[in-house]
Order: sequence, then structure tokens, then C-alpha cells
Amino acid sequence: TRTPVNVTVTGAAGQIGYALLFRIASGHLLGPDVPVNLRLLEIPQGLKAAEGTAMELDDCAFPLLRGIEITDDANKAFAGANVALLVGARPRTKGMERGDLLSANGGIFKPQGKAINDNAADDIKVLVVGNPANTNALIAQAAAPDVPAERFTAMTRLDHNRAISQLAAKTGAAVSDIKKLTIWGNHSATQYPDIFHAEVAGKNAAELVNDEAWLADTFIPTVAKRGAAIIEARGASSAASAANAAIDHVHTWVNGTAAGDWTSMGIPSDGSYGVPEGIISSFPVTTKDGKYEIVQGLDINEFSRARIDASVKELTEERDAVRELGLI
Ligand code: NAI
Repeated sequence: TRTPVNVTVTGAAGQIGYALLFRIASGHLLGPDVPVNLRLLEIPQGLKAAEGTAMELDDCAFPLLRGIEITDDANKAFAGANVALLVGARPRTKGMERGDLLSANGGIFKPQGKAINDNAADDIKVLVVGNPANTNALIAQAAAPDVPAERFTAMTRLDHNRAISQLAAKTGAAVSDIKKLTIWGNHSATQYPDIFHAEVAGKNAAELVNDEAWLADTFIPTVAKRGAAIIEARGASSAASAANAAIDHVHTWVNGTAAGDWTSMGIPSDGSYGVPEGIISSFPVTTKDGKYEIVQGLDINEFSRARIDASVKELTEERDAVRELGLI
């Protein structure tokens, strides 16, 4: 029998945590034959609710779930962790300046990065979901000098999935017919969902749609502002879809992309496509054997270049701001 994989989830008592934990425990994160130990990290006020969720996890009698530990001590939560899902974060509240938001999250992600550095397993893979996800991932990574930098990733898979769904609706195709879509840049309103290399049932998506006004004025803003539209409709931010995207991100990272397709992940830039080295930006990637590679050689037209550059500029500004705050 396989040794269980240790999966640490922060913010476990939150709404994404509630949608996420049951799918991890039922085998959707790593595969139907991989047992898991769950480690839940919460702040003291969240511990009781996390215990309630753990009771429900017990009550599912999931065959793959071998144990649950709940703690407010990051060193314990990340001890031996193979996969870490950093979901808990400080949300932006009314009147909060960007600097305040970044330093509040620095107070969370810097110590968690250090705890990962000091306690996690050698093969640790980190996904940051909590916003601002790309820059929070950068802060955690900077605090973990002994962990290879490429193990720190940020979630743009929800944006990727949203874009696939919008493109499928526009073209009347099935979502499974859509391949090679890319989210570039930051998980924010500046993100750029790129369909110029995407395929719809084997045909180039941009040529098939053949409508730049729809692209610029409908598709891109619909994908980029979907989070706000969900809040408006549901009265709460995306939770089940965000949890689903986190499952997809890690599952693809561990189990690989399909032949003839790729996915989008926020990852440390190696300088590809003119994105400054070191910032955590979303790229088209293929994955295999637990490793990812940026898809190289894509032709970037003027329309795409301007939008990638704008999102990357925002990321370099966030990096500069956290550098100034001494967080990296
Ligand atoms: P929530 O407010 O329901 O839950 C957050 C949980 O984190 C709370 O239980 C809180 O006690 C906990 N927490 C706060 N600080 C913590 C710390 N230092 N250590 C451990 N736990 C801590 O929020 P929700 O809806 O679950 O969202 C979580 C984050 O995910 C937010 O930052 C949100 O903006 C982000 N998000 C990111 C998406 C993406 O596509 N990258 C999509 C949707 C949400």
C-alpha cells in the first residue's frame, strides 16, 4: 500500500476550505489510489469551525483519508508536507490601501514560507490561492530559500477555466473541445486571457471567432471581472469554483497535461516572453512527472503584447512594493 501524501490546507475553516477539503479527501486532488493525511492550519478563531469540518470529514468515511490534524501552529501544519494549499489570506477591506493589503498579507505569507522552508518534505509543492495570490506566492518563496523556487505557484486556473467556459459558450463547442487557452500575467483585473493560440475542436479560436471587438470588449472583461460578478449575484465570493480550480491546478501539476494541450499556472518567470525573471506570473505550461515547463516559441501579436505587458507591469509594481516593505 502507498504511503499517504501529507496535504496542508491553510484557511481551512473558510468558504473555499469547506468546498476543497472533501474533494481532497475523496481522491480528486492526487488520484483515486493515493491516500492522504490532511493538516489544517487556521488562526485561533477559526479552529473550532475547522474541528466541525473535520467531524464532517470523518462522517464521510472516505477510504483514502488516513488522518486529520488541526492546528494554529504553522510549524506543525507544514511538518512533512508534500502539498501545501495556501488559501487563508487577509482580504482587502473598504478604504484599505494597496500597501496595507500587501503588508497584512506579508504578515501571513512570510512566516508560512519560513515554516515551509523549515518543516516541509523535500518534494513540497505549494499553491497559493489567497489574494493577492501571485505576490503572496513571491513573499512565501522569498522566505523559503532552501526550497527550489519553482515549487511556489499561484492560482490562475480559475481564470483559465472561466475563459474556456466563455469561449465554449460563444462558439457552441463543448468545453472538452477547447485546448491551449492561456492566462497571462496577474490573477487580477489586468490578467490577459489569450485565445490566439487556442483551439476549438482543432480550429484556431481567434480565427473562428473572428471578432476583435468581442474579444476586447466582452470576452476579456467578462473573464477578468467574473469574480466581481459572482459576488454581485451570490452575495459571496467564488468558493466552489475556486476550490475546483485548486484541485485542477495540483492534479495537473502532479499528473500531467494531456498531449496537444496545456494549462495556465502562476509560476516564477525565467524571463520567457519578456516577463522579468523572478516575478510570479501566469504562463502557458505543460506538465509531466510532477514538473512544469513554459510552452516556448508562441508568436505574440501586438494585441497580446500590450495586454501581457500591462499585467506584468502591475506585478513588477507589486514586487517593488513588497521589496520596499522588506517582505522579500
Ligand atoms: P474566507 O474568509 O471564507 O476564509 C479564509 C480563512 O482563512 C478564514 O477561515 C480565516 O480564519 C483563515 N485565515 C486567515 N488568516 C490565516 C492565517 N494566517 N493562517 C491560517 N488561516 C488563516 O475566504 P475564502 O472565500 O475561503 O477565500 C480565501 C482566499 O482565496 C481569499 O484571499 C480570496 O481572495 C482568495 N481567492 C482566490 C482566487 C484565485 O483565483 N486565486 C479565487 C477566489 C478566492
